[in-house]
Amino acid sequence: MKDFSGKLAVITGGGTGMGRELARQLIAEGCDVAICDVIEDNMLETRRICEAEAPQGRVISAFHCDVADEDNVLAWRDFVKQTHQRGYVNLLFNNAGIGGGGSFINDTRENWDRTFNICWYGVYYTSRAFLPLLLAADEAHLINTSSVNGFWASLGPKSSHTAYSAAKFAVKGFSEALINDFRNHAPHVKVSVVMPGHIGTDIGINSQYILGRKRAADMTDEDLGIAREQMGMFGLPVDKMSLEDIRQAIAMQGVAFRENAPTTAAEAAKMMIDGVREERWRILLGDDAKRLDQAVRKDPENAYEESFMAEAWGRDSALGD
Ligand SMILES: NC(=O)c1ccc[n+]([C@@H]2O[C@H](COP(=O)([O-])OP(=O)(O)OC[C@H]3O[C@@H](n4cnc5c(N)ncnc54)[C@H](O)[C@@H]3O)[C@@H](O)[C@H]2O)c1
Repeated sequence: MKDFSGKLAVITGGGTGMGRELARQLIAEGCDVAICDVIEDNMLETRRICEAEAPQGRVISAFHCDVADEDNVLAWRDFVKQTHQRGYVNLLFNNAGIGGGGSFINDTRENWDRTFNICWYGVYYTSRAFLPLLLAADEAHLINTSSVNGFWASLGPKSSHTAYSAAKFAVKGFSEALINDFRNHAPHVKVSVVMPGHIGTDIGINSQYILGRKRAADMTDEDLGIAREQMGMFGLPVDKMSLEDIRQAIAMQGVAFRENAPTTAAEAAKMMIDGVREERWRILLGDDAKRLDQAVRKDPENAYEESFMAEAWGRDSALGD
């Protein structure tokens, strides 16, 4: 698909980050856009921004939907059909995701399952629900966001990253298997898997909220003590930090994740749209993602060792210093 003008794009998780930037850039290219999100205020803000920026006649719709709930997804699909009055969809971006469920041993099952269900079942349910509409289009493209954690199941040797990695590997496997499935049975539909490196978004802040974790300001001394212990296990120098220092550090984590990223959400969205235009099935976002991809291919056996981090990233952890 070279030209997005007049097309209809559906985006999960359009409330902030890459989903919002995809919506803005696609609508600027003359596309109609349907977004969903589980955080209503952010989603409505994206709709407001897009309406203000949209060229004449373009339509942006928004629907509150939890992509981990199949009934919700089917209701959204029906809303999209009704609102946009088209019997087809050209672009489906399975973008919604959260981080969580790090340790299979120490994290609660509830957090583990919530993370896995959003990151995997969200992609699966949405793909299933919208498949007939993709098949009905003259040309269509399914874009599934995995992660570098779809080919490397770690954030570094001192941390655990199980639910997210398991889901993102599933998204990558599903997307790659669809290449020949579409080629054989629906050649007018293409598929891409997106593997972002570190992108400057609010995923840290949103994930905490969606998992129902307390905001730093609401944490008790006991909560902060546990957090200090966990930060220590990550290798952070917490010995000399007071509980108030820990509170500040937690409050700053989500912001620091966004502010210290080498690639912005807008740059990442542009790379995704360019990848779709060029019909690349494999879209790595950012030089960090490309470096890591090369490093894992070069030395897979050592990918989970301490020495690998220093060589692949030139630092001790994937997202830290
Ligand atoms: N930011 C990064 O560094 C990074 C790296 C690798 C992969 N990713 C992936 O990129 C995608 C986009 O994330 P982002 O970084 O833009 O984060 P983000 O938090 O800004 O955007 C994700 C959006 O998905 C929404 N969402 C979460 N759970 C949902 C649910 N159950 N139903 C509907 N919407 C839901 C969130 O509210 C949010 O608006 C995610 O799949 C994420 O895993 C991000």
